[in-house]
Amino acid sequence: MESSLPAADFLYWVGAGTVAYLALRISYSLLTALQVWGLGHEPGVGPELGEWAVVTGSTDGIGKSYAEELAKCGMKLVLISRSQDKLNQVSSEIREKFKVETRTIAVDFASEDIYDKIKTSLAGLKIGVLVNNVGVSYMYPEYFLDIPDLDSTIKKLINVNILSVCKMTQLVLPGMVERSKGVILNISSASGMFPVPLLTIYSATKTFVDFFSQCIHEEYKSKGIFVQSVLPFFVATKMAQVRKATLHIPSSDTYVKAAMKTVGLRSRTNGYPIHSLMGAVISLLPSWLYLKMCLNFGKSMRARYLKKAKKN
Ligand SMILES: NC(=O)c1ccc[n+]([C@@H]2O[C@H](COP(=O)([O-])OP(=O)(O)OC[C@H]3O[C@@H](n4cnc5c(N)ncnc54)[C@H](OP(=O)(O)O)[C@@H]3O)[C@@H](O)[C@H]2O)c1
Repeated sequence: MESSLPAADFLYWVGAGTVAYLALRISYSLLTALQVWGLGHEPGVGPELGEWAVVTGSTDGIGKSYAEELAKCGMKLVLISRSQDKLNQVSSEIREKFKVETRTIAVDFASEDIYDKIKTSLAGLKIGVLVNNVGVSYMYPEYFLDIPDLDSTIKKLINVNILSVCKMTQLVLPGMVERSKGVILNISSASGMFPVPLLTIYSATKTFVDFFSQCIHEEYKSKGIFVQSVLPFFVATKMAQVRKATLHIPSSDTYVKAAMKTVGLRSRTNGYPIHSLMGAVISLLPSWLYLKMCLNFGKSMRARYLKKAKKN
């Protein structure tokens, strides 16, 4: 009887400590969200950084939305994607709507020999903002060894998701450092924050983008450069294979409007209030539980995809 009392006391204080810790973490998340999204502040981007903005993967989805938001801030745009037709169309839409100058570069980031062409096309431009947005995943969640065409998938994901971020930064950062100002926005993914089994290569490449961004930010912030790691959960785009936006799966326009409010304030962000809340909740889960839930979710998506593919 005597020895059970200290044990009860101990459990009481562990419980109270845990509740206090969770309450503090949630209050901190809510306060920082209010600071970023609730209070208006000047946009962290604009022609004063350098008149040009460069956006990779800019003809669709999140990249197109970034291009439009940057044009809205008065920046001239260099749009980079694979298809010249789509580039021409987006470029003329932006020119007409926002009355800013645009240029296009058609390259496939799956290739490694495109960077001389990009370097030549960017020569002499004062680039204030670089958005490393281009990224690819696989068609459906799959076990590593069963990914169709595994060799070329490995190469493609590494070249598009990782190499492009390093090489574009290598091309653009020297001019920013020379002028002591510039913003680099790297689009990682929530799957770079939390491992996603069955999307293993994608998830790992996005962790690279997140770590690369955090390191470069630390190395160059004293030189006037702001680097941001953007870590979205699902956004309704072609890549996500989601057409209809919802509160927790926003359209790319809604997502990017929210993410732009964090530029200059947060070097690492989920970019959108509901996504930040999702990130805060997941980070409280034990990793074995999160991984198990994630694997089960991936398995059901995989089964659904394969069943549909078999029917067609
Ligand atoms: N959507 C999501 O739920 C989500 C969540 C987390 C992170 N992200 C990240 O956000 C970024 C944008 O994704 P998104 O959903 O907006 O994708 P998306 O709608 O599929 O758009 C991809 C863009 O990249 C271009 N592109 C694709 N492959 C390319 C290549 N090999 N070379 C050059 N350009 C290429 C496409 O244009 P062309 O086809 O004309 O080349 C298009 O403009 C990616 O880095 C992705 O990982 C997305």
